[in-house]
Formats: sequence, structure tokens, C-alpha cells
Amino acid sequence: MHWWQRAVLYQIYPRSFQDSNGDGVGDLPGIVRRLPYLAELGVDALWLSPIFVSPMADFGYDISDYTAIDPLFGSMRDFDALLDAAHAQGLKVLLDFVPNHTSDQHPWFVESRASRQSAKRDWYIWRNGAPNGGPPNNWLSEFGGSAWQFDAATDQYYYHAFLAAQPDLNWRNPQVRDAMHDTMRFWLRRGVDGFRVDVIWHLIKDEAFRDNPPNPDFRDGEMPYRRLLPLYSTDRPEVHDIIQGLRAVIDEFPERLLIGEVYLPVERLAAYYGRDLSGAHLPFNFSLLETPWQARAIAALIDRYEAALPDGAWPNWVLGNHDRPRLASRVGDAQMAVAAMLLLTLRGTPTLYYGDEIGMRQAAIAPGQVRDPWEKNVPGFGAGRDGCRTPMQWDGGAHAGFSVAEPWLPVSDDFAACNVARESADPSSLLNLYRRLIALRRTRVALSQGDYRPLAAACDILAYERVVAGDRVLVVLNLGPQPIVYRVPAGTTAENLLISTDSGRDGQKVADSIALRGHEGVVIELCV
Ligand code: NOJ
Repeated sequence: MHWWQRAVLYQIYPRSFQDSNGDGVGDLPGIVRRLPYLAELGVDALWLSPIFVSPMADFGYDISDYTAIDPLFGSMRDFDALLDAAHAQGLKVLLDFVPNHTSDQHPWFVESRASRQSAKRDWYIWRNGAPNGGPPNNWLSEFGGSAWQFDAATDQYYYHAFLAAQPDLNWRNPQVRDAMHDTMRFWLRRGVDGFRVDVIWHLIKDEAFRDNPPNPDFRDGEMPYRRLLPLYSTDRPEVHDIIQGLRAVIDEFPERLLIGEVYLPVERLAAYYGRDLSGAHLPFNFSLLETPWQARAIAALIDRYEAALPDGAWPNWVLGNHDRPRLASRVGDAQMAVAAMLLLTLRGTPTLYYGDEIGMRQAAIAPGQVRDPWEKNVPGFGAGRDGCRTPMQWDGGAHAGFSVAEPWLPVSDDFAACNVARESADPSSLLNLYRRLIALRRTRVALSQGDYRPLAAACDILAYERVVAGDRVLVVLNLGPQPIVYRVPAGTTAENLLISTDSGRDGQKVADSIALRGHEGVVIELCV
């Protein structure tokens, strides 16, 4: 088994984790300071959202130098210190690799835009306007408006899937591939343990630039980008060769991990493992972010995902990230513990988003405090991502212990009750449940490596077994408010209750049925 198959991954949004120099923005020395917290939580690897030199139009997802640390976060020396300290504590470090687009301030783009004859012109996607005027085709930017930006000086348009300040690279150009592969090698040689690749399904666009078709499911009031189906601008068949190229670079180094960010239905996602598993090790599975929080819907989703996985592919699950509303606000306070138990008992590598382990909620952002460029471009559609990126809540002191200065985004106003210090001291807190679940996952092979076997259940109950030679556990989750008695399946003998979301019950003996309270989840040891 590879380390990442057994691992629990933890996403840090560096701007918001821990400020060490009093500028209100989190930084690398701040992360070093908090490594003991992460080690105690029990996670195995950190993924850092981008820390590279950037004008910060999209908070680091617009990179102007791929091989330097933005001074806002620290120096290369700070990075090396973080890497060493993390490794010394047994934590792996994954970086965010953003190959689809650069910043418009990147020297490559500056050169590309300088003239039509520029040696780097073809490093980006330049097209003439349509014969009757206007952009080359109807493609839309995810962040609002046309995806084409007119450049008056050279009388052509360039393509940007996101902000105009994020021009897309042309991955059909072998020089682009070589240059980007070299940036990967730069970090891999430095010792990073792998990458999470930004918008990997966007990397190649239709060679003929055909118009995208209208989306028949589009409804008024939805995000304008949804008006069209991004059939020709994303998820092209050629993308898999590009990903294979990234994977080949990863495979030049021992035991490194390639994760791909892919927002597609699970059946399409499966292709991102690549032919003969030569693609991403883990194409991120975001399907729980989009599925209603109902037992039957989730059970069906797990079945669909398990069925879609290619032979030998390793699954993974995500419940939150820096682009989606906070887990606690999506599932509601009463279900936070059940959600934690689900994430940490499903088959496959789980990824936690910082702060979800203490139940941080989507913070209210006043109109004058909006920082997210997406929300600024297309206000009123609920696109805003600031509310899930607020400072980590460490304690009940000033600025929640995140910084001595006013933070770049407001601290959520529930921080006096919801913070690490308080929850650490409370054995029945969500944080301590996460710690117990992660520790259990480490000791029970059935949880980290076992097969997934769905069990029949009614109403709000989601039940499954995890089984491996010599170890077998039963997971029963009550996604509703009603108490319920769950009968252990015939022919199965239950032993101890290993963990309940209500911590007082751990260790209880279980007979042939178990009474669950509303919103309770349990993991039970079964006789093998
Ligand atoms: C996906 C990232 O997760 C998101 O934060 C970013 O805005 C877009 N890609 C563009 O890079």
C-alpha cells in the first residue's frame, strides 16, 4: 500500500491558518507553529493552497512565479523550514499546482501579449475575433462574462476560464508542457510529497474551438456560467494525455502523490485515474458536496461511486474546501458529528478542510468586506467564497488567536464558543470526536483498507460494513432527528461499540440491536 492510501489529508488555506508577523494574513511560520496541533489531530499530510508569488487577484490562484514563495507568506527559507518540521513530525506536504492558467503579470504572458510575433505568443490561447465582430466563440468564464479578453494592442482575444487576470496556458504547445513539468520537478526535488492540481479537467480545450451548446437544465437565477454546457471548453479526451505527462513527472520521484481537482459526475470522474491507472492517483471526489444530506441519497451515491471506480483505483472523499460553503452550514449543527464519522469511515482517502474539525460555520460577510473576485464579478448568486475562508479559530482571545492584527477577512462571530482551545478541553467536543475517529482509522485495518459493504436500512439510517481479513466493523449513522433501533444483520455478531458521536457510550457492549439517538452515529466492532 502507498502512504496516501492510508492517509488522512488536511487542507490549509494559508492566508487564514495562522499569522505570525502581525499583518493580518496567515503565513508559513504560522503553519510551523501549529504543526503540533495537526500532529495531535492525527492527520498525515497537509495540502497548502497556493503560496507562490502572485498579484493575488484570485488569492494565489494567479501565479506570476511558480518557483518562488510570495513574501506575504514568507521566504524560501521559511518554506524549507516548514517542510523539514512537517517531515520531522511525520507529516507529508502537498503543494497546489496551478497549470491551467498563470497570472497576467507572469513574464510568460507579458512576453506573449507583447506582439503577435512574440516567441511566447503560442504559450497562451490567442484567437481572432469572430468574422462579424465580438469574441471568437461563445465560451463563458466561470467567474462571469465571456471567457475571451480583447487585447487592443495586438487586435486579438485571449482565453481565460476564470478571471481576465488568469490567462489560460496553451497545453498543446510542448514548450509549455516542458516548462510546467520543470516547475513540478523544482518542488519535488526540494522534497514536497506531491501536488493537488488545480482545475485539471480544464487543461485542454477543443482544437476547433466549437461553440458550447445551451444547457437545457439552466434556470433563471442560476449562475450565468451554467447557461451553456462546457462541452468543448473542458473535459476533452486529450486531457488524459496531458495528465499522464504530469504523472510521469511524479513517477520520476519515489512515493509522490498526484491529486486532481475535478468537478464532474462520478462516472466521468473515473476517467481521471487514466488508462491503466496512469493518470491522477486521486481525482478529487466532490460528490458529497453536491448531494442532499439524506441517507438514501448518500447511500445511492456511494454505490454509484464504488461501481464507477476502475479496477484497482483508490477512492477518496471530500466534505469541504475553500470554494464551497462550510460543511457545518450545509449539513446543520446537529449533523456535524455524523458527517465526521461518515468521512472517516468510508473507503478511501479522506480530505479535511481546516476548521471543519471544530465545526466552523460559513461566516456572514458584509457587502463592504467582500474580497472574493468571483463574488465581486457575479454578485447575488451566492458564489462568494469568503465565508468559508475566514481565520482559523484557535481560542477565545483577540482575533481568535489567529493574529495580533485585524485579519484580512473577519473572524466568524461564533469564535468564543467554537475554537480549538475550548474544544480541546471538552472530551465530548467535535474536535475530540475527529481525533478519536482518526486514531481509530489508524488502528482498525478494516477502516483504512477494508472493503465497503452497503447494508439495507430504512428512513434516515445509513449503514455499512468495512471488512478485511481479520477485522470487521459496522457503521450506523442516523441522519435524522428520530431515535431508532437498528438490528444488527442476521448472522452477524456485534461486540463493542468502538465510537459513538455521543462520547459517553464508547466501549459499551452491543447485542443484536442498538438504540440510536437522533443524529447519532456509531462504529461497532463485529466478530470476524
Ligand atoms: C479552483 C480553485 O480551487 C479556486 O479557488 C480558483 O479560484 C480556481 N480554481 C481558479 O484557479
